[in-house]
Amino acid sequence: MSQQFTPNNPLPQEAKVPPKMAVFPPEVEAEIERHLAKYPVKRSAILPLMFIVQRERGGYLDPPGVAYLADRLGVRITDIWEVATFYSMINTEPVGRYHFQICRTLSCKILGAGKITEQCTKRLGIKPGETNDDGTFSLSEVECLGSCGTAPMMQIGFDYYENLTTEKVDELIEKCKSGELSNGVR
Ligand code: FES
Repeated sequence: MSQQFTPNNPLPQEAKVPPKMAVFPPEVEAEIERHLAKYPVKRSAILPLMFIVQRERGGYLDPPGVAYLADRLGVRITDIWEVATFYSMINTEPVGRYHFQICRTLSCKILGAGKITEQCTKRLGIKPGETNDDGTFSLSEVECLGSCGTAPMMQIGFDYYENLTTEKVDELIEKCKSGELSNGVR
């Protein structure tokens, strides 16, 4: 009979961690400790820890960052990837300073997400899934971001931009280029 996963019996086998692991300064370790202390089962802190590691590793989960998470949470590398690849707010590849994530689900699609993506592609010179040459912009299409009442919308970092029009997109891009707009990473 195969062993069942339960939160208190998280792994059927030992965590396998490659030798190279990310190292963080004491203040980041303290932040991580604060999150771990909130949960009776360490692996429950996987998302808050992923956000911290992503922020500290230059905007995405690199292999040493993933190794750190697996070790810290006592899970397998594959457990980390399973979660990381499910959520669009976790990046598994390097992204630009401004990461435009355009919602392509029903409400946004009906209300013009396609035009918003086209405008971004035209203005930034990149297609969804790409980063421009100087690493300033990345463009992605993602599933519903829970802001359907203000469709079409997109996310830059953790910030939402709603009721988008092509003119609003142009303004946002100009503000990014001038450094006036936060990249929404915190
Ligand atoms: S459909 Fe776009 S936010 Fe829900």
